[in-house]
Amino acid sequence: MNKIKILLIEDEEFDVLRVKKTVSLQEDLLEISEIVSDGKNAIELIESAPARFDVVIMDFQIAGGLMGEDLICAIKKISPYIQIIVITKLTLNDNKFEFANKLLKIGAFWYCTKYPTHITEYIYQPTDFLISIHNAYQKKILELAKFEYDNKMSGNINIIMESKRIIGSSEQILMLNSMIKKYASRDVNILVYGESGTGKELVAYNIHYNSSRKFENFVRINCGSIPPDLIESELFGYEKFAFTGANKNKKGLFEIANNGTVFLDEIADLPMNAQAKLLRVLQDGEIEKIGRSESFSVDVRVVAASNKNLEDEVLAKRFREDLFYRLNIIPIQIPPLRERKDDIIELLNFFTIKYSDSLRFDKPTFTNEAMTEILNYSWPGNVRELKSFAQRILFIDTNPITVEIVRMSLNNLQVSAQDDNKILDHYFNNEKIIHLRDFEKLARTKYVNFVRENSPSDKQAADKLGIAQPNFSRLCKELEL
Ligand SMILES: Nc1ncnc2c1ncn2[C@@H]1O[C@H](COP(=O)(O)OP(=O)(O)OP(=O)(O)O)[C@@H](O)[C@H]1O
Ligand SMILES: [Mg+2]
Repeated sequence: MNKIKILLIEDEEFDVLRVKKTVSLQEDLLEISEIVSDGKNAIELIESAPARFDVVIMDFQIAGGLMGEDLICAIKKISPYIQIIVITKLTLNDNKFEFANKLLKIGAFWYCTKYPTHITEYIYQPTDFLISIHNAYQKKILELAKFEYDNKMSGNINIIMESKRIIGSSEQILMLNSMIKKYASRDVNILVYGESGTGKELVAYNIHYNSSRKFENFVRINCGSIPPDLIESELFGYEKFAFTGANKNKKGLFEIANNGTVFLDEIADLPMNAQAKLLRVLQDGEIEKIGRSESFSVDVRVVAASNKNLEDEVLAKRFREDLFYRLNIIPIQIPPLRERKDDIIELLNFFTIKYSDSLRFDKPTFTNEAMTEILNYSWPGNVRELKSFAQRILFIDTNPITVEIVRMSLNNLQVSAQDDNKILDHYFNNEKIIHLRDFEKLARTKYVNFVRENSPSDKQAADKLGIAQPNFSRLCKELEL
């Protein structure tokens, strides 16, 4: 085992001896690596190799100017992980507690005392002194591990943030981004409005990852897709034996999201009885788990999204007014793509580059006429539609892309059925090999789309594919069909 490495800052010979003698009681565990007599030398040593020391033991009053609080601060500034134990005389003018508090506040780990005169060769209460060195070392290890973990996490979060970047330079998107920056950190509930495919979920992600909750869970709940009789158990969970069939504890989504963010998607579709329960959580921060007598509290930030106007829903008595006011602290409206045409070109560029890279195609070019057509199109499916358009257009073997091709593609007409079936063949070519994940997604998209187009209903399509309907809906969403 490595010994705990100590730097001793002490200018009185007898006190050096006392510390040495006390530490030597555990010489197999502790090691005084260096002894210096003034603050300046100590700082130079630590600066040259901060990782060389685990614990600093320092006399509070030493000669040479740099000492006491200033010295503690200077050490912590160089290395916040080094733990400092301060040695003081028994006769201090300061009230002991006040003094101790002050030391801890400025960053010392703990303090110990020595006798004012040479009456003993050990530090006062040597066992406590040794234990505090071990505790200080443990704290250093924990803080270092936390630092490394946080660093790794922020790295991961930067990667997520990059993949969730909101593209666009229109005035509306600039404004949207600045609202996200402004409100993400303020822990207020946010209601995101926008037509289908405008990026409501994307905005919710951005709020979460720009907030202090970013290391915690982001939990998406599609309020429209949970069967009404399951909503309560999905949201709040249940205890084992709460009802027949409850053979284990189930955590609700709010519990999973504790300390993080809950994204309530399609909030207008939340059934009335669940609205009452949700209101209770938002009001008191308490959830009632089925089969549990006491409620317990959770701390979640709620971002809700709707493509319906919730005020209209309130007027029509389909949505509780009190719940509406709870959710609508900050409303954010994402305008449809047709109202921010400046973004169309930028988004098209972004997606064609992204997909031509990952799918191994040359980046397509467009004739002027084709571009005008794209700009004038109304994009009812908004960014989602533009995204799949950009993907579809890659598979067309014509360059530049003409206005006719754009029209056909926008109307979702097969540009050529034969070509379409050959799309997967494109990759049976040494130069065009792509990641298996991308190939699978492509094949799945084509196949699910084919089965769906050839089935009278999604239910039957799901049956044919041998999957349950909720899974089928999720799959379609995932494949952006
Ligand atoms: N400004 C943008 N920049 C980059 N990608 C975007 C932008 N807006 C939307 N997208 C992408 O478009 C797709 C649809 O966005 P999202 O799912 O967030 O929309 P939505 O408003 O939640 O739609 P729905 O109402 O259908 O659920 C996603 O793949 C998303 O990443
Ligand atoms: Mg959505």
